[in-house]
Amino acid sequence: MKRRNFIKNSAAGTAGIISAPLLASCEDKKNTAKESAATTSVKPIVIATWDVENATAKAWEVLNKGGSALDAVEQGVMMEEADVNNQSVGKGGRPDRDGNVTLDACIMDKDSNCGAVVYLQNITHAVSVARKVMEDTPHVMLAGKGAEQFAYEKGFQKENLLTEKSKQEWLEWAKTSKYEPIINIENHDTIGMLTIDSNGDMAGACTTSGMAYKIGGRIGDSPIIGAGLFVDNEVGGATATGVGEEVVRTVGSFLIVELMRQGKSPQEACEEGVRRILAKNKNKPDFQIGFIAMNKKGETGAYCIHPGFSYRVFSELGHTNTPSNSHIKA
Ligand code: GLY
Repeated sequence: MKRRNFIKNSAAGTAGIISAPLLASCEDKKNTAKESAATTSVKPIVIATWDVENATAKAWEVLNKGGSALDAVEQGVMMEEADVNNQSVGKGGRPDRDGNVTLDACIMDKDSNCGAVVYLQNITHAVSVARKVMEDTPHVMLAGKGAEQFAYEKGFQKENLLTEKSKQEWLEWAKTSKYEPIINIENHDTIGMLTIDSNGDMAGACTTSGMAYKIGGRIGDSPIIGAGLFVDNEVGGATATGVGEEVVRTVGSFLIVELMRQGKSPQEACEEGVRRILAKNKNKPDFQIGFIAMNKKGETGAYCIHPGFSYRVFSELGHTNTPSNSHIKA
């Protein structure tokens, strides 16, 4: 599989974004933030893991028409879920070791509402099912057959997600008859996306078919709120790509948002998130983890364990793709 570029924007897109007011009490702060958002011209911005130009362009289109941050992240990552050439997300995703394509996704809005699906089969748009879980049920997460049944009830169509290409590659892998899921850099392209809309509100989404040739039932970080994705509309958001087990162990995205709450920049917070993982993995072989983050001012950051990553930003200035900083070993 072709290595993707994981893209970073420098300071682009920050102009016109409101700053958090400094106030004495939490209540005052909340009220003033709302007033500021209503009266200030905030510039929308989209940030996504990997070189997902179609996804960021779609999200931007939604924001540019005055759409919400939530609609933008959903419609943005749907582009990747529908792209059969992306073999790590949605339709065309690589299967588990038994040949089943199983999807994990989550979504989070400005009010800290969230929804997730795990081990979802036969439905391309896992992120949209996650949104239905968030909006139409009192729950946060649905799994497996229950999630699939719920999706049909909501009008989603059954589809075969295993493309001929992914099937042939899996059959080739299966010839080894050894359990070795692929965890290297070439096989983890989870899509995480964060947006700010023209009201200054934030949302995030994360979607994946998970680790290629995993044990049936394995779930990574992507559908787990706090691990693969976290958004706090008063602070910022973060999302992850890479080996989910490592992100779950450190509750990576929540950690990064909390570090931003304490005053770190998105870049500093992503670097600390990666450092925490490296510190617990001194003797492990090479693996891939990447975080992206954005604060309420529209400042962005990204950091990863491997070199050659980048993340993509779409702001009023258009697309920006700059390789992110990276760190190879602790
Ligand atoms: N980050 C995706 C996964 O580990 O499944």
